[in-house]
Amino acid sequence: MTVAVTAVSGKLGREIAEKLMNKPDAGTVIGLARTPPNVQGLDIETRPGDYDKPEQLRASLASIDTLLLVSGMDAPDKRIGQHRNVIEAAKAAGVKKIVYTSIQGPEESTAFSPIVQSNRQTEADIRASGLDWAIGRNGIYIEPDIEYIDSYRTKGEIANSAGNGKCGYTTRSELARGYAALVTNPALNGKTVNLNGAPITQTQLANYLNAAFDARLSYRTMSSNAYVADRTAELGDFIGSIIGGIYDGIRMGAYDSPGDFLAVTGKPHRSWENYFASLRT
Ligand SMILES: NC(=O)c1ccc[n+]([C@@H]2O[C@H](COP(=O)([O-])OP(=O)(O)OC[C@H]3O[C@@H](n4cnc5c(N)ncnc54)[C@H](OP(=O)(O)O)[C@@H]3O)[C@@H](O)[C@H]2O)c1
Repeated sequence: MTVAVTAVSGKLGREIAEKLMNKPDAGTVIGLARTPPNVQGLDIETRPGDYDKPEQLRASLASIDTLLLVSGMDAPDKRIGQHRNVIEAAKAAGVKKIVYTSIQGPEESTAFSPIVQSNRQTEADIRASGLDWAIGRNGIYIEPDIEYIDSYRTKGEIANSAGNGKCGYTTRSELARGYAALVTNPALNGKTVNLNGAPITQTQLANYLNAAFDARLSYRTMSSNAYVADRTAELGDFIGSIIGGIYDGIRMGAYDSPGDFLAVTGKPHRSWENYFASLRT
């Protein structure tokens, strides 16, 4: 078997490729990258893979049995077309199976919903492709909250519009474990699964961060409008409203899923106690 992973110059694509390289039943692993020079220190064949270049994708997917498609980062409408380029190239090149990294989230009535909807459209396009498929819906990465610890510490709090909503965060490393299973286990073909850990509130997140970093953060609920104003002041209108939409989604319960890690990998998602203990400074 030969497996190709797209966007191996990015953090998620790289972690998935590395996990597959260590999995004896994955066969040969090949990386695709829009910008091959950005792929550093990954000891696999890397081919060009720009989602905007159908001919290039088709040539690079020659001899590939299974394709892991990492979702693109462009605006929703553009992203749907880019993913269609990849799906059509895979069909033309004789790829047999596509695994797609989709997302969880609010499908309606938030500023993040168009992005969720674009992922749902790609899911539908893959199901209609005629190829074998498996789809993972990622929870929210927890790593940005860890990277943000100094800002949280300066403010003394986590403040956002999630309220008491629970969020099933995950890590890129755990996602890679889930995707390695979706790629290699044919029993998971035709399944759409949620890839996330145990859902936690923002108060629980603050408590975990306090224990790991010896901090004294509390959690403060903000209104949706106030939080969007806060984020847009720091990050601009586009990103600010999208981040507001994600936290609206948490408040609405769109990320409150138990997750399917046990069914997908045979092992539960890493516990947050274990994860945060590993970060203790
Ligand atoms: N769950 C979450 O909380 C969360 C948060 C952020 C993002 N995401 C999603 O996670 C995925 C990637 O995450 P990441 O951590 O790996 O991000 P990342 O480290 O920023 O990597 C993004 C990757 O996408 C590639 N890319 C962008 N546009 C492309 C195109 N037109 N054709 C081919 N490749 C393209 C980039 O290639 P270059 O090297 O050429 O730039 C890069 O390899 C995306 O699906 C994104 O939508 C999820």
